[in-house]
This record gives sequence, structure tokens and C-alpha cells, in this order.
Amino acid sequence: MRTQVAIIGAGPAGLLLSHLLAQGGVDSVVLETRSEEYVAARIRAGILEHSSVELLESVGLGARLRAEGDEHRGIYLQWPGERHQLDFVDLTGRSVWVYGQTEVQKDLIAARKKAGQEIHYEVTDVALHDIEDSPYVTYADKNGQSVKLDAAVIAGCDGSFGPSRAAVPAAKAFERVYPYSWFGILADVAPSTDELIYAWHPDGFALHSMRSATVSRLYLQVPNGTDPQSWSDDQIWDALATRLGHGQNGWKLHPGPITDKSVLPMRSYVQTPMRHGNLFLAGDAAHIVPPTGAKGLNLAIADVALLSRALVARFRENDPRLADAYSETAQRRVWRCTHFSWWMTTMLHTSGDPFDAELQLSQLRWVASSEAGATGLAENYAGLPIFL
Ligand code: FAD
Ligand code: PHB
Repeated sequence: MRTQVAIIGAGPAGLLLSHLLAQGGVDSVVLETRSEEYVAARIRAGILEHSSVELLESVGLGARLRAEGDEHRGIYLQWPGERHQLDFVDLTGRSVWVYGQTEVQKDLIAARKKAGQEIHYEVTDVALHDIEDSPYVTYADKNGQSVKLDAAVIAGCDGSFGPSRAAVPAAKAFERVYPYSWFGILADVAPSTDELIYAWHPDGFALHSMRSATVSRLYLQVPNGTDPQSWSDDQIWDALATRLGHGQNGWKLHPGPITDKSVLPMRSYVQTPMRHGNLFLAGDAAHIVPPTGAKGLNLAIADVALLSRALVARFRENDPRLADAYSETAQRRVWRCTHFSWWMTTMLHTSGDPFDAELQLSQLRWVASSEAGATGLAENYAGLPIFL
């Protein structure tokens, strides 16, 4: 089998790359270890930044997002006794959209199917070969048959556990592991807030997010290694109520049936370069951010926007300049988002150290009361343009 671009991974990075390449007249084949049902249902990120929405719309993926997504002007920052809204639209002219990664993924799968795109699910033993000269990928298809896929380029979009990352020799990796995790729940209850609440509390961070008018998504900071089953539903709702300020100025958190519980460890990771020979990395295959800045999915989208433009120029115009610049161009945004995610994380999660707590509260007061402070957060959260 032969294609121009062998894409490893059918997460948002891989599927959007395949969509953008097809629009530019470049062929691809997508390989995925999981089933279609699994990748369509995986619960992950929930916020799209301004540029991600613009990009999805500009390539025909905006209809359901506009109809079913929810545009938010900003977020609330909260700590005991205080809640402040930051209005990103007033501060930067840019908004964000609540639209779950599961929905983005469903839209991408539907669009790829409609276009007749080859996506091979449930493959095993994926291996990358001869990246510098004549690249090919070997794998076993879902029936166990061995397949060789020749390609001019391999795109490693296989997330943090895939084989692509390790295929870049002499790569440099930067990592920060945080001493806490997020305990996330989905609940069948209308959100108790119109915009997301990011809350600092001496017991630990909490976040009130949402998926729709009837589904809420909430998170609690918990120690690493926490077993989600060790918390009863009542304990979860009590902790959320305390940390999110139930009763403060009459605000109420409305509990409801919990339909999903999971614990997510937090780390920052950046691997450089994002290219070796004919292998290009994109999304979580090259970098991981803690979810506090809502950047993971948006970074994956920005990477493949740059990469697809570079590969279309290389294949259609024989112009390698954007591909040659890809790693450096992408890393500028990656490091900005890595810093922002680290900054939000360290400002909002408690470590038990009273000195840290006072610094965090001072920083939160400054961000909420100074236009310069608020604009800095807003610019990063609502996101910079993809093509600068
Ligand atoms: P992925 O979505 O990980 O996709 C990679 C794909 O490659 C997967 O489908 C995987 O099955 C496939 N794959 C792996 N190995 C192979 C192989 N050998 N061969 C073929 N395919 C392979 N971000 C936020 O902003 N907010 C959140 O709340 C949030 N929650 C998250 C929760 C979890 C559990 C995880 C893991 C991530 C979360 N993220 C969150 C991050 C965000 O979801 C990711 O940044 C985003 O999914 C990146 O997209 P991607 O396509 O690069 O990687
Ligand atoms: C989510 O809705 O899952 C979500 C929202 C904002 C974040 C992280 C996760 O910062």
C-alpha cells in the first residue's frame, strides 16, 4: 500500500491533519490502535479557543459547533469570599467556545467518512521504518494480517503513548511532573454557572466546567494515586461545594447524578525537535500540558494547521521551506502554551505551603483587579492567532 502521508493516530490531531491535507489535494492513510467507537467516546478536553473555532469553521467543520456549542465571553476566578469575571471579549476581542473533544472527534470522523478517507482502526504492532530515506510503516490490521504502508512522509499523531515520539533520535525532552492530579466527574445536571469557574481554595483547586445545558463537568485537585472509587458521590459534591463557594453571595452548586469518574495525573512535557527526516510529530505526541489552561486540544489543532500547510506546499509546489521551519515555528506556540498552562496550574493548585498560598492569592488579586494582569490571562486563554 502507498500514500503520500501515513498518519499514525486518529485523535483530533491525526483526523484533522487528514482532513486539511485532503482539502489541499494531498492523500493520507490513518492508522489507529483503538476502535472507532472508542475514539469517538473518549472524554477529554472541553474548551476551544478563538483560533481553533475559526480554523474548524473555515474547513467546513463548524456547523454543529455553532449550533450546539456555547460561546463564552470569559471565565470566573474564585477564591474564598471573592469571585471575579474576566471578560476576554472586552479585554482582547476574542471569545472561547464550550464544545467537547468528543464532539470535535465525531465531526471529524463524519467528515472523513463522507470523503471516503481510509482510516484503519484496531491495528496492532505499528512500527516506523527508514524515516530518513524511504519511509514506511508496518502494522497488523484488525484481522491480524501484516501490512506495509509506504509513504513520502509519516505524521506521528499518536499521543503520549504511541511509538512516533521515540523514533526521533537524540531528541531533547523537558518535563515537569506535578504533585497532584485532577479528579474529573461528568454529571447529568444543568451547570450552576454561565461561564467556567476556576477556584483556588485551601483544600485544593476546583473547576466547574460544562458540556451542554444539561451536562456538567467538574474537577477537584486530589493527591496523585487517588482511586476515584474511594470518594462517594456525596463526598465529591461536598468538596466541590466548599471549594467553589456554595453560599457565597447566594450562589448555589446544584448536585446531580454522576455518570463518569476519572483521575488524571498532571504533567508538562515538551520534546524537541518535532521533526526528524520525513517524520513530523504533532499534538500530544510532541508535548503534554496540564489541563488548567485548556490548551491540549487547541495546541494539537494549531500544530496540524501549520503542518498541513507545510506538507501541502511541499507536495503541491515542491516548496520545502515551511516543512523545514515546522518544528521551530510550532515550538514557539508550544512553549507559550506550556508556560501559560504551568502558570495557571501553579497559581491555582495548593501545595500546603503557607508562603506559596499567600503568593497565589496575591497573584489572583492582581490578575482580577489589574487590566494588564487580566489581559495577560485573557490573551493566553482565548489564544493567539495560529498563523502569526
Ligand atoms: P490523542 O487524542 O491522544 O490521540 C492520539 C491517538 O493515537 C489516539 O487515538 C491513540 O489511540 C492513537 N495511538 C496511540 N498509539 C498508537 C499506535 N501505536 N498506533 C496507532 N495509533 C495509536 N486537555 C484539555 O485541554 N482539557 C482536558 O480536560 C483534558 N483532559 C484529558 C484527559 C485525558 C485522560 C487525556 C489523556 C488528555 C486530556 N487532555 C485534556 C488533553 C487533550 O485531550 C489532548 O491534548 C488531545 O487529545 C491531543 O490530541 P492528539 O490527537 O494529539 O492525541
Ligand atoms: C473541561 O471542560 O473538560 C475543561 C475545561 C477547562 C479546562 C480543563 C478542562 O481548563
